[in-house]
Amino acid sequence: MKLLDLYAKMKGDLNQIEQELERSVSDDHLLLSEASLHLLKAGGKRIRPIFVLLAGKFGDYQLEVMKRIAVPLELIHMASLVHDDVIDDAETRRGQLTVKSKWDNRIAMYTGDYIHGKALTIAAQLPNPQIHQILSNALVQMCIGEMEQIRDFFNTEQTIRNYLLRIRRKTALLIAISCQLGAVAANADQKTANQLYRYGYNVGMAYQIRDDLLDLYGTEKQIGKPPGSDMRQGNITLPVILALKDARIRDSLLNEIASIREFGGQKDASRAIDAIRKSNGGDLADQLANRYIQKALHALEGLPNLTAKKNLIDIAHFVGKRNY
Ligand code: IPE
Ligand code: IPE
Ligand code: MG
Ligand code: MG
Repeated sequence: MKLLDLYAKMKGDLNQIEQELERSVSDDHLLLSEASLHLLKAGGKRIRPIFVLLAGKFGDYQLEVMKRIAVPLELIHMASLVHDDVIDDAETRRGQLTVKSKWDNRIAMYTGDYIHGKALTIAAQLPNPQIHQILSNALVQMCIGEMEQIRDFFNTEQTIRNYLLRIRRKTALLIAISCQLGAVAANADQKTANQLYRYGYNVGMAYQIRDDLLDLYGTEKQIGKPPGSDMRQGNITLPVILALKDARIRDSLLNEIASIREFGGQKDASRAIDAIRKSNGGDLADQLANRYIQKALHALEGLPNLTAKKNLIDIAHFVGKRNY
């Protein structure tokens, strides 16, 4: 099954999430709303709300309750994108101008904070303190992950372990807790919530590895921004770390990275990308992504055979191969 079929099946509930997302950022201040809606309406996969809703099916699913966790998780994700594009100096996202380039960095910083604040306002309607602890811990971890990324820009000596720790924080945890909190909000039992967390964590790791592969192998049309952005910015991702271990291209790749650094990211990264493509880095990264997908599938074993379980299996397969 394709992701699009799943959207069609979940259309009713997803429409309500969409309306709530729109409503949540519409009313406070003209410019903050305009900038937030600009990103919201540019699209996006809404994968985190989808995980929340599917996880909720393992408990007592009430859309009104699920909304209060699905909407904040998408908003937190959006806020992190607005800020990420400032740090990455990115011109486009989701095929549209980023907030920072349509307006400016200052407006992007406050738009991110604003969206974040709205996320907390909505989540505050949920009484369970465990939910708030899980949410705030994930936010702290995301900040650390992004800081580690900045620290490791252009560090060609970094290890695979470093990379994995970083993407665990910046991406996988938010996806893990989307699954976990969907279950917790629906009062599913602890064991189920833990299994869904494990599923989400492993899918999340694969999700970011695929994102990093797409930045090197995707087209602008597929990824909604020019490929090679990570490279130009000095973000050394898994395929690059693995390519650097390939003796056939190591020296030329090191030279290219040094020269990108020297030109302050203004240099075209296509020669570095060519070198990576000649190495086995892409294939090895792909294999690791698939190992995470296998672990994600394994985590679902023993859960009741609901349609939601089948959907989660399908999403895991989608993530393992995703090209957008
Ligand atoms: C982009 O996330 C940033 C990552 C964590 C990889 P998504 O790929 O989920 O972005 P949208 O929401 O679909 O645009
Ligand atoms: C994901 O990292 C950003 C966050 C988790 C906040 P990326 O920098 O890889 O995301 P894209 O590629 O800009 O969407
Ligand atoms: Mg980025
Ligand atoms: Mg990326």
